[in-house]
Amino acid sequence: MPNRNRTTDVSCMLDRQRQRIHFNENERVIHTMKQFKRYLVTSALPYANGPVHIGHLAGVYIPSDIYTRYLRLRGADVISVCGSDEHGVPITIKARQEGVSPQDIVDKYHNIIKESFRRLGMSFDIYSRTTSPVHHKTASDFFRTLYEKGEFIEQTSEQYYDPEAKQFLADRYIVGTCPHCQNERAYGDQCEKCGSTLNPTDLINPKSAITGATPVLRETKHWFLPLDKHEAFLRKWILEEHKEWKSNVYGQCKSWLDLGLQPRAVSRDLDWGIPVPVEGAEGKVLYVWFDAPIGYISATKELTPDWEKYWKDEETKMVHFIGKDNIVFHCIVFPSMLQAHGGYILPENVPANEFLNLEGDKISTSRNWAVWLHEYLDEFPGKEDVLRYVLCANAPETKDNDFTWKDFQARNNNELVAILGNFVNRALVLTQKYYDGEVPAAGELTDYDRETIAEIPAIKKGLEDNIENYRFREALKVAMNLARLGNKYLADSEPWKLAKSDPERVKTILNVALQITANIAIVIEPFMPFTSEKLLKMLQIAKPGWDSIGSMELLPAGHKIGKPELLFEKIEDSVIEAQLEKLAATKRANLAAEAGKQVTPQKENISFDDFGKMDIRVVTIKAAEKIAKTKKLLKLTIDTGIDTRTIVSGIAEYYTPEELVGRQVLVLINLEPRELKGVLSQGMILMGQDATGKMVLLTPSDKVGSGTIVG
Ligand code: 2FM
Ligand code: ZN
Repeated sequence: MPNRNRTTDVSCMLDRQRQRIHFNENERVIHTMKQFKRYLVTSALPYANGPVHIGHLAGVYIPSDIYTRYLRLRGADVISVCGSDEHGVPITIKARQEGVSPQDIVDKYHNIIKESFRRLGMSFDIYSRTTSPVHHKTASDFFRTLYEKGEFIEQTSEQYYDPEAKQFLADRYIVGTCPHCQNERAYGDQCEKCGSTLNPTDLINPKSAITGATPVLRETKHWFLPLDKHEAFLRKWILEEHKEWKSNVYGQCKSWLDLGLQPRAVSRDLDWGIPVPVEGAEGKVLYVWFDAPIGYISATKELTPDWEKYWKDEETKMVHFIGKDNIVFHCIVFPSMLQAHGGYILPENVPANEFLNLEGDKISTSRNWAVWLHEYLDEFPGKEDVLRYVLCANAPETKDNDFTWKDFQARNNNELVAILGNFVNRALVLTQKYYDGEVPAAGELTDYDRETIAEIPAIKKGLEDNIENYRFREALKVAMNLARLGNKYLADSEPWKLAKSDPERVKTILNVALQITANIAIVIEPFMPFTSEKLLKMLQIAKPGWDSIGSMELLPAGHKIGKPELLFEKIEDSVIEAQLEKLAATKRANLAAEAGKQVTPQKENISFDDFGKMDIRVVTIKAAEKIAKTKKLLKLTIDTGIDTRTIVSGIAEYYTPEELVGRQVLVLINLEPRELKGVLSQGMILMGQDATGKMVLLTPSDKVGSGTIVG
């Protein structure tokens, strides 16, 4: 007899989810009423000044891919566009640091990003770039239209200028102290510590990021978009008509609007970017935040000659996936640009996420505190879906969240392996064992079978409600509930105990279990496309559409399935420890770099005679051994050229005895001998010591005779 009591867990879980969905649906009445013919999904264009990391993925790209894949499965007319954001100051700064051209930088990172997205299964219809000729033309034309319509204000103002570098200092070219939180490394456009948006002149004690010089103010002409002119429209459109937007997005927009909007410069004095396409604008380019969102339009143009229907028809639903630092640009600036231009639709939603931290610390490209996608893909081949799963399960949808390697391991081992992988494997292995891989025909269904099957439509509905309202974490839980349901069905029905006594019943149980595996292949596709594909291949069926969810006829009786393989494998502790060690090494390197910047003041002068008293020689280490009962001390036997003697040195923390034998080092040989741990030390090895206390041996660059005098 199946154990009925155990069903309650899953049913209760589903009930709770249903209630939550109803509650949220009530809040979103206005939103669900509008019908759309097609969808345009955009994902924030990543800056091509570095590779993509897990923060970008959890915040923007995983949600956008889930949404797009879901819509495609439903048979919707949908396109997903993205590309590299290749202009702006961060790129020129990176190019200066590396001593190459900005074009070299964007070529390098565009390729790395594009390839890593492909490997992760990101299903953009196009991944373009803002240095493309189509984009240059689109952005120039857009600017010119606004210019000709009189939508800009031309203003000469005083801006910071670096007299040494002989150039104006835009945005990140200027650093100084944040007036709000006193962070000494705030940028001219933003303080990363407190998140405030800044103007260069807000900074206290401004310095040029190029030369370190104190900048001077100089007059320069720029074009401004008068956001204040669009304020009334924005208030109505966002605050009244889009109350259903996520509270973090709505709240940020409201606070911008309540503070009152100001004209915003859309040009910069820079030599990298799209030239301002009007007379008298030599040396000026479009501000990166003016051209970047137009990149969505350019990418669509590159994708299809039919691009206008996605941008200009009210029946298109446009959704921007972004991180929280991009909210103002997508909800206020870009819509104002589109309005000013005319003829374009506005986004229907902008489901921005908060930030993902890593092991309790803010992810930082400059401090290398990140899990880089391309490195993950190399280090975890075949585990693309594990990352997709963990980042969705832990996505910072309503608040900042933390990625930890232990959680990554736990979710893989306890959820993917133990729930999803286990159920699918059991169903397929039993089918292989009892029926040589042929799907058995179902006999009469019991009440329990029916109850189990009846759970599936609720799962489908839960997925739809959650995905369509951008609650991807919840949606993933609902998808996993189907695997939980399957696991429970097998555990309760125990077909392995009935093989002899009731072979007809076993056929029904396995038929139901197999149909559930086929349903799982559909529901997990948006989240874990590789696993879905692998499962469909094992089941030997083509991908069914979304509306097949709930069908118990996805695998006809007699259909032959393929060889069962494990969908997921356990991740061992050693793998996690290696990742944690990699992060620890980054932390050490950052500390050392930080310490390296602290200069120890010079000591008092000494006389030449004082110096001349020291007898420093190059010696050769002949033998080395640990001194018992000590952690740090090594006993070294050295050839000084004069004699062979013993010295005791506290370097066991940094070097093993094997690394030392044969090595030449510098020794002060006339230091008064002294006894350490019962060993007489006749001299002292000279070493370098950095501010963290780390010691390094100083070895001559060429081999010299033992006893060579240093001085
Ligand atoms: O924040 C960023 O990484 C920007 N490159 C996003 C640009 S989104 C769009 F407007 F292009
Ligand atoms: Zn600040």
